[in-house]
Amino acid sequence: MPYQSLTLHVFSGTGNSLRAAHWAAERANASGLPACVRPVEEGPPHSSPTGPEQLVGLLLPTHGFTAPWAMTRHALRLPRGHGAHAFVCATRAGVKLGPLFVPGMEGTAGYLLALVLWAKGYRVRGVTGLDMPSNWTALHSAQKPESVAAIIERAKPVADRFFSTIIGGGRRFRGFGCLLLGLALAPLSAAYLLAGRFLLAKLFFANRRCNGCGLCAQRCPIGAVRMWRGRPYWRFSCESCMRCMGFCPHRAVEVGQAWGAVLWMLGSASFSAWLFGRFAPGVPLLETIDSAPLRAVLDYACMLLTFLVGYLGFWSLARIPAFNALFTWTTLTRLYRRYREPGTKPSSLHGRPAARPPAERPE
Ligand SMILES: Cc1cc2nc3c(=O)[nH]c(=O)nc-3n(C[C@H](O)[C@H](O)[C@H](O)COP(=O)(O)O)c2cc1C
Ligand code: SF4
Ligand code: SF4
Repeated sequence: MPYQSLTLHVFSGTGNSLRAAHWAAERANASGLPACVRPVEEGPPHSSPTGPEQLVGLLLPTHGFTAPWAMTRHALRLPRGHGAHAFVCATRAGVKLGPLFVPGMEGTAGYLLALVLWAKGYRVRGVTGLDMPSNWTALHSAQKPESVAAIIERAKPVADRFFSTIIGGGRRFRGFGCLLLGLALAPLSAAYLLAGRFLLAKLFFANRRCNGCGLCAQRCPIGAVRMWRGRPYWRFSCESCMRCMGFCPHRAVEVGQAWGAVLWMLGSASFSAWLFGRFAPGVPLLETIDSAPLRAVLDYACMLLTFLVGYLGFWSLARIPAFNALFTWTTLTRLYRRYREPGTKPSSLHGRPAARPPAERPE
């Protein structure tokens, strides 16, 4: 046994990556290697690994063909590796269509984190994608329980092979095809990280079944839900991990799809074109500073401001029963099955304690 300890850092919305982490821990324990599963909610450890006898794993979902920002940030904050060995496992959206298993696409998720680990002094021993059931229930209904079970059953031996190789001291690098596709789709991933996830964060609302219990706020891994005037309010920091949607005991979390189209149209209007077109001609100062980078920064700031102000309006209206009914009626998520990894209990998802009182300054 080449290792003395295994630490598994996990970011998981609906339990898939957590399940994979437990599979890794089981493999390690079966080989006499003590393993500890550490949700990113706990923050990075304070002490550095001491050398190559320590093994570190990162397990995460794929978001937008790359790693979610929460996990990338966590990896950047890890202490230096001092030659400790490491691996990355990015779970992704496996889908079962009749007898056919369609793989997901992790894109740059695994190798981006491998690069961060390498830059921090870890020796990366393996990278893989792992097909688990798709959890993106803002876009589609969760698959039937039988399909979910079949995908997980199929993933287990794949994961076991990967973890056994790494824990046994070997190397295993998979997913080069996905990496190439991910690089080709890098502009999409960048758009997702810079704009898409902020838009998605501002589409959540609670339908009339919400009783204000606050569990969504307690369980959010990012602390992105605030209870505000007795209702959940979604902040920009939301990663769209789908935990609040999948685990709400009253099935009250919806994603306003029609509202999303409106917000996107409003947010993508070019403020700079209007500003400079209307005021710059004949004003030397404005004519001098007018440039493509400045216009891009202005438009980006205005887009985020539009998302924020628009959401404050949407959220306030959603408190009024008639508007709440309208928003619920104009989204398909009211019909969608929710997703959570079947073996994951709500109690195993810790969430992050709210950093400040609920009624203060939402964002
Ligand atoms: C916002 C969002 C974006 C996603 N993007 C991708 C993707 O680009 N490629 C993919 O294969 N799966 C994608 N998925 C599916 C998840 O990566 C997959 O279901 C994962 O196993 C969820 O793991 P978790 O339960 O640990 O969060 C996405 C899911 C969400 C919610
Ligand atoms: S959305 Fe669900 S979990 Fe959140 S407060 Fe309402 S009922 Fe509770
Ligand atoms: S608010 Fe919901 S979807 Fe967003 S990060 Fe928290 S639990 Fe995940």
